[in-house]
Amino acid sequence: MRNNRGAGARGGARGSGRDGSRDSGAGGGFTSRGLKTRVKTAGKRSASSTRWLDRQLNDPYVAEAKKRGYRSRAAFKLLQLDEKYHFLKPGARVVDLGAAPGGWTQVAVDHVHSADGRGKVIGIDLLPVEPITGAEIIELDFMDPSAPAKLKAMLNGPADIVLSDMAASSTGHAQTDHLKIIGLAEAALEFAREVLAPGGTFIAKVLAGGATNELLAPLKRDFATVRHVKPEASRKESAEIYVVAQGFRG
Ligand SMILES: C[S@@+](CC[C@H](N)C(=O)[O-])C[C@H]1O[C@@H](n2cnc3c(N)ncnc32)[C@H](O)[C@@H]1O
Repeated sequence: MRNNRGAGARGGARGSGRDGSRDSGAGGGFTSRGLKTRVKTAGKRSASSTRWLDRQLNDPYVAEAKKRGYRSRAAFKLLQLDEKYHFLKPGARVVDLGAAPGGWTQVAVDHVHSADGRGKVIGIDLLPVEPITGAEIIELDFMDPSAPAKLKAMLNGPADIVLSDMAASSTGHAQTDHLKIIGLAEAALEFAREVLAPGGTFIAKVLAGGATNELLAPLKRDFATVRHVKPEASRKESAEIYVVAQGFRG
């Protein structure tokens, strides 16, 4: 298996062993230590970019992602979900919706061993994603009418896992953002229902409250278990949560 995680990755072996074993604490097993870096409000920097910079510099997941060679701190959200619900099995076939910059795709490739020719990992995003060995990436709007057919052609068979970390850029208007993310999750679910093998797993990012409940009825009908989960790596101040639906009834 080639290591997709750059010079910073510790031997490319964290996250999951080649034998499929999980290293405990891969997601949350570290704590922020060391001194807090203070960011001063500088001349041209706005208060919001100062806050962003402060958060980046003092976020243990940002530092750990860099150390392990993950392209995003979001990688830890998927690691923590998998630590709990064990869906990323060696040989699994995975579709990652909203893949850029590629953290979840890297985690999926590691766990299913697709770089060794086992399973399959397909990612899609509006934005370009730097190539990841073991993954096929398509740059396309998932809401484009051609997207589901293109993904199905790439899959060339059923999927075991459909992941959606898709989020449209924030409008600053909470209700609008909420409706947009639910729209993406609904489209992801529709796609998942078409491609998942019986027993499959569907995971999607939603925002807590409101229309999230509208997704519940179809999810409960189609999956044996449905949970709402906020992984530790998800920022406390963010309303994002993940629906984890397992045991697709087919
Ligand atoms: C939070 S990021 C995903 C991070 C990713 N899981 C990772 O670990 O690197 C959300 C992504 O969803 C993508 N996205 C939003 N709407 C989309 C759409 N309609 N089609 C494809 N991608 C979309 C965005 O471009 C963005 O890259």
